[in-house]
Amino acid sequence: MRRNRANAEMDSAQILLLYFFLLFSPSCAEFSTRVGINYGLLGNNLPSPSKSVKLIQSLKANRVKLYEPNPEILKALSGKKLQVSVMVPNQLITNISSNQTLSDQWVETNIVPYYPRTLIRYLLVGNEVLSFFSDQDKVTWHNLVPALRRIRASLKTHNIRKVKVGTPLAMDVLGSSFPPSNGTFRSDVAESVVRPLLQFINRTKSFFFLDVYPYFVWSQNYQTVDLDYALFETKDVTYTDPKTSLVYRNVLDQMLDAVFFAMDQLGFPKTRLWICETGWPNAGDVDQIGANIYNAATYNRNLVKRLTTKPAIGTPARPGLALPAFIFSLYNENQKGGPGTERHWGLFYPNGSNVYPIDFSGEVSDYSGYPPLPKAENNKPYKGKIWCVVAKGANLTDLGSALAFACGQGNGTCEPIQPGKECYKPDSLVWHASYAFSSYWVQFRSGGGTCYFNGLAVQTTRDPSKISLSLSLSMGIWLVKRVI
Ligand SMILES: *[C@@H]1O[C@H](CO)[C@@H](O)[C@H](O)[C@H]1NC(C)=O
Ligand SMILES: *[C@@H]1O[C@H](CO)[C@@H](O)[C@H](O)[C@H]1NC(C)=O
Ligand SMILES: *[C@@H]1O[C@H](CO)[C@@H](O)[C@H](O)[C@H]1NC(C)=O
Ligand SMILES: *[C@@H]1O[C@H](CO)[C@@H](O)[C@H](O)[C@H]1NC(C)=O
Ligand SMILES: *[C@@H]1O[C@H](CO)[C@@H](O)[C@H](O)[C@H]1NC(C)=O
Ligand SMILES: *[C@@H]1O[C@H](CO)[C@@H](O)[C@H](O)[C@H]1NC(C)=O
Ligand SMILES: *[C@@H]1O[C@H](CO)[C@@H](O)[C@H](O)[C@H]1NC(C)=O
Repeated sequence: MRRNRANAEMDSAQILLLYFFLLFSPSCAEFSTRVGINYGLLGNNLPSPSKSVKLIQSLKANRVKLYEPNPEILKALSGKKLQVSVMVPNQLITNISSNQTLSDQWVETNIVPYYPRTLIRYLLVGNEVLSFFSDQDKVTWHNLVPALRRIRASLKTHNIRKVKVGTPLAMDVLGSSFPPSNGTFRSDVAESVVRPLLQFINRTKSFFFLDVYPYFVWSQNYQTVDLDYALFETKDVTYTDPKTSLVYRNVLDQMLDAVFFAMDQLGFPKTRLWICETGWPNAGDVDQIGANIYNAATYNRNLVKRLTTKPAIGTPARPGLALPAFIFSLYNENQKGGPGTERHWGLFYPNGSNVYPIDFSGEVSDYSGYPPLPKAENNKPYKGKIWCVVAKGANLTDLGSALAFACGQGNGTCEPIQPGKECYKPDSLVWHASYAFSSYWVQFRSGGGTCYFNGLAVQTTRDPSKISLSLSLSMGIWLVKRVI
């Protein structure tokens, strides 16, 4: 659409020149700055692939990133004008790194049948492999770049030349990130993994793929970081880097520049960066702040506006640089573990309704014609008490195992609910499990323990010792005996 408008204003010589450029320009030619979407599948209630493709199109996204080479989805994307990013699972990295046959087979099975009808353009090897939160050990770290090389060789073997190979990394690949000019890669990976990765990216004209979440920076430092500064909402709040005198107006730019400075330090100042995941949660647990629809819509809408602005804005250290991005995520995914925010990054509920309207093309910049967003109610920490209790509809068999697990953790976690002790009654599984979950959570919360238990537990601000009777009755399982 944009190109048509431009053509109308050009004379034929310019058009010829343009065609020449389009035909002969290398693959690093200007690409669309429309924003893409991450399509995760960790939900047991998600719409079908074809419905999902329609939702992605309704966002006016131009790209979609998959976490696995799901055949149904790749088929549903066939013939669609959506560029696709596919991922090689972490578990295969080590074997692929030392086995070209395996790499060839992977590409043959997962890419070749769909290419080029499905516009596969990015092949990401592993997900946040260097992160401390990753399930991968250090052996995998060192096999990462060799696996990238193998996969690229396999693509070449199959004469697939439009697909860039890369690997998404999390912000914890940096050892220091503040001030931005102090950005450096972690010393345990800088030379052994990141340098060869940057060499690979340079040689293959690929991208440094980065998962970057201002939400986490803000929520962990809400007393010192202004919320509006994280949401791209302020003109007044700025941060000046003491070393470079660069002036920052939002958290995202600070984070991106820390990575750019780290790459400068290793001698790769020309590396292109791709925001592989970013976003803001639309809900979370009672003790999680700022996770709400208002902030999520504000962050993502402002992000799209920034990234689609022409000419490109870039960052203070990289002014004018176009930054392609995938927003996380298409759906709220109910099978993700961890705190409540993890299950609430979506732009859509699993029933296909949007959580809030958003347009990825950048053509809508004013949302005042849409229904107003619900007011943000949790931008400050919740001050009252919070308990961790059994969730509605919890499976009783699973609850028995979870109770046993919780009681086995910590010190005297379930002492008071033993027969004859002060909290034994009411003698129901739900009551005992609620007690055990709260007791567990009190002990492990500060160390990152969550109130989740695979969906069996949920936070509440109502004192369970006061409501246990009605709670249990409403669940229809009053008097269910402990099964363990
Ligand atoms: C990797 O290769 C080894 C040896 O061939 C095999 O035992 C193992 O199952 C493979 N791992 C995966 C994840 O395929
Ligand atoms: C390499 O992978 C192929 C295909 O999976 C397998 O048959 C072969 O045994 C592997 N080679 C080694 C040395 O593990
Ligand atoms: C830069 O980062 C290092 C850690 O890598 C830290 O010790 C130092 O204080 C930081 N410099 C500034 C000015 O904050
Ligand atoms: C690769 O590195 C060379 C030398 O530093 C630089 O001139 C070039 O622009 C880089 N290319 C890319 C695509 O990063
Ligand atoms: C979809 O689910 C959301 C969240 O549960 C709900 O608020 C909304 O009303 C539902 N929409 C439809 C059309 O059912
Ligand atoms: C509860 O979970 C168990 C497995 O943990 C399963 O076999 C059983 O069918 C589930 N019960 C219900 C009512 O969903
Ligand atoms: C349990 O008690 C031991 C010894 O007092 C202590 O080291 C440990 O941290 C406690 N564990 C928890 C989860 O509080």
